[in-house]
Amino acid sequence: MVVTGAGRRVGHHIAQRLYQDGYTVIAHYRTHTPEIQALTELGITTVQADLSNSEQILAFVEQLKGHCHQFRALIHNASSFEPTSDDLVKVAEQYQQFFTIHMMAPFLINQSLQSMMVGEGTDPADIIHITDINVENPTPAFDIYGTTKAGLHNMTLALAKKWGPKIKVNAVAPGPVLFTPTHTEATIEQMLDETLLKKEGGAEPVYLAVKSILTNPFLTGCSIPVDGGRRLSKR
Ligand SMILES: NC(=O)c1ccc[n+]([C@@H]2O[C@H](COP(=O)([O-])OP(=O)(O)OC[C@H]3O[C@@H](n4cnc5c(N)ncnc54)[C@H](OP(=O)(O)O)[C@@H]3O)[C@@H](O)[C@H]2O)c1
Repeated sequence: MVVTGAGRRVGHHIAQRLYQDGYTVIAHYRTHTPEIQALTELGITTVQADLSNSEQILAFVEQLKGHCHQFRALIHNASSFEPTSDDLVKVAEQYQQFFTIHMMAPFLINQSLQSMMVGEGTDPADIIHITDINVENPTPAFDIYGTTKAGLHNMTLALAKKWGPKIKVNAVAPGPVLFTPTHTEATIEQMLDETLLKKEGGAEPVYLAVKSILTNPFLTGCSIPVDGGRRLSKR
């Protein structure tokens, strides 16, 4: 299984938990972190790549092929997150960055490796896109982030049609699972107020959704929200 963006937080947790549950994991990272060091010490293969343009993405694919001849699952977690700038020059850079990491990288990796994907027994293999509840109910201040995640959601549906019955393609759409240092106290308070289950979810519920997809052979073209219900009440 390949997990992208495994150098910290949710991606790291998914890679570690997959390993604990007995799967063979290749953990991708951009920045070498203590978390990547810890995965390496467990014996997990780690692969470094900056997925910022098509050349680097295709070089990453070649690195993956050098490690493995068959892939059970591709889990696209790597992501960039920041509000849309007021400066149009910066906005153009942001669009390029978000489009590349949220859409082009998953597409090129999926397309390059799909012929090497093999499920367990007669069951299909898996592609899982980590999206966001913004896909359903956008936050205007994060519209570039959100629209490129919405593109990834649409890609989930398109690839599910394209690659069934050999590969299941699904999404996990987190809500407030891990706050970032950029979230102010006021923002956190508002987010919790809008979250029906009244807490920050943590990374484990995202992993549980990933695992429920991996272990369900009759699920494709679906998106599982992991948001404590925030999508229903988010302003
Ligand atoms: N946290 C939440 O509450 C929440 C809510 C909704 C959706 N999500 C989604 O859940 C996933 C995990 O969230 P998170 O908060 O753990 O994300 P995060 O802390 O922002 O981590 C994202 C990871 O992606 C990597 N990455 C970013 N740009 C990259 C690039 N150009 N090339 C290679 N790697 C790159 C980062 O590497 P570096 O360390 O080098 O920057 C980092 O390891 C993301 O897809 C996010 O959109 C999270």
